[in-house]
Amino acid sequence: MTKRFWLAGTLLAAQVFAANISMAESVTFNKDVLPILQRNCQTCHRPGNIAPMSLLTYESARPWAKAMKAAVVTRKMPPWFADPQYGHFSNDPSLKQSDIDTIAKWAESGAPQGDAKDAPPPIQWPENGWTAKPDIVLEGVPYTVPPAPAKNVIEWMTLTTATGFTRDTWVTSVEIKPSELAVTHHICVSFVPHRPNVVYNSLLWVDKQRDEEGVEVAPSERRIALPTADGRGRDVPSGIRNNPPPNAAAENNRGADDARGGVGLGFTCYVPGRALSDFRPFHAGLLIPAGYDLNWTIHYTPNGKELTDRPEVGLTIAKEQPERLLIESFGGTDQTKFAIPPNDGNYAPLPSEITFLENAELVWMSPHMHLRGKDMTYKLIFPDGKEQVVLNVPRYDFNWQLGYDLKQPMQIPKGTKLVVVGHYDNSVNNKFNADPNRTVFIGNMTWEEMFAPFFAITVDKTVSPAKALKFNFRSAGGA
Ligand code: HEC
Repeated sequence: MTKRFWLAGTLLAAQVFAANISMAESVTFNKDVLPILQRNCQTCHRPGNIAPMSLLTYESARPWAKAMKAAVVTRKMPPWFADPQYGHFSNDPSLKQSDIDTIAKWAESGAPQGDAKDAPPPIQWPENGWTAKPDIVLEGVPYTVPPAPAKNVIEWMTLTTATGFTRDTWVTSVEIKPSELAVTHHICVSFVPHRPNVVYNSLLWVDKQRDEEGVEVAPSERRIALPTADGRGRDVPSGIRNNPPPNAAAENNRGADDARGGVGLGFTCYVPGRALSDFRPFHAGLLIPAGYDLNWTIHYTPNGKELTDRPEVGLTIAKEQPERLLIESFGGTDQTKFAIPPNDGNYAPLPSEITFLENAELVWMSPHMHLRGKDMTYKLIFPDGKEQVVLNVPRYDFNWQLGYDLKQPMQIPKGTKLVVVGHYDNSVNNKFNADPNRTVFIGNMTWEEMFAPFFAITVDKTVSPAKALKFNFRSAGGA
């Protein structure tokens, strides 16, 4: 459908629906609003999840009636940033215009509860804030985030814990659940081979030298915290890096056979708006060899209160062997050339380019940039030269790290390229930009930048993940 056609259709539908509403008796919570909340809002708006209030019941939703109307009419809620022109996504929570009208009408007419018998049965969300009921829960290590540390920087930490897998195991979903969402910027996990000298259950980090604005100064002067008996770490000067940034991991990807992808198997992140990676809809899983460990990367940001986070990872395990193997990875750019000039409102780094060396199906994408991120577009270039945009996020918002699940997996013949372009806004027009007068380089902190187009593919289960992708960019990481 052309855009004009689509718009006309929507307007027509809205008019027809408005007529229906005025004829109807009244719009009530139980009959009209609750079904919408169940479908489009409760994944986030329930106890233990990222939204500040629960929309499970009339009692908890009623005080928010006016705010709900405002949030849906302006399309601030539910958060969704994909350009509807490209791709159809199974997790798209966007409301139909008729749903928006229903919520608005309900809020305007005094937000009545209606008859209890009209209410749909409540959704049975798994206990304790999980989205998928886990078969196995792996625990992290508690960390107390201080109310205001020096310079407000808590460096990324890494952690290794045992999986306890005594035989090769097909994992079909990975969900990461911090207990203190307010201070958790992100947590990523992946499965890595066991190293004989590995130190379990100890949080490690590199104390980087930073200037007064918190920007990393001289990578060569980085220091590393080694684990000590009390598990608190000790500062030693070092050229060692125990915490490579994601693009360095992508660099490792090229050669690492054992870890089957550099960052390890099943690289999955918790970020606001995304906690669960579920491979079951794609009949896919991760084959985790016996004895593998779980590697965590954790980034906390203080929010003024002292809070102790106790993160957990929930896994579902396949009863039968899935048909396909899932590979999650991400692109990058030439980091040595990445430098956003001061006041540049539309900086484009060199595109990310990855070649698929095996037939694959693209199932998921998730753009990642920091505060100056502006837009990102994923495009496939097929071996016959045909091009197709598979995801366009025209107004990237750092506060929402959403993942986009393709409704229909996209067939990718061997030899296809995934090319991702992005832009950054380092001007005063970007309200998240703390300082438009400085050149911005790649770095871990939100005031530094990243260019990390995440994606997931499935391949035949006989394919070796280390040989499925070729990264056609050089990154400075890993050095
Ligand atoms: C992906 C998770 C997610 C979904 C889905 C979602 N919300 Fe939210 N919502 C949040 C978070 C997080 C906040 C708090 C941060 C913010 O306001 O941006 C929020 C805030 C709100 C607010 C307060 C806004 C304000 O201005 O203070 C309202 C009202 C709201 N949501 C309504 C809804 C409704 C109605 C739906 C469904 C139609 C919905 N949300 C779907 C995560 C979500």
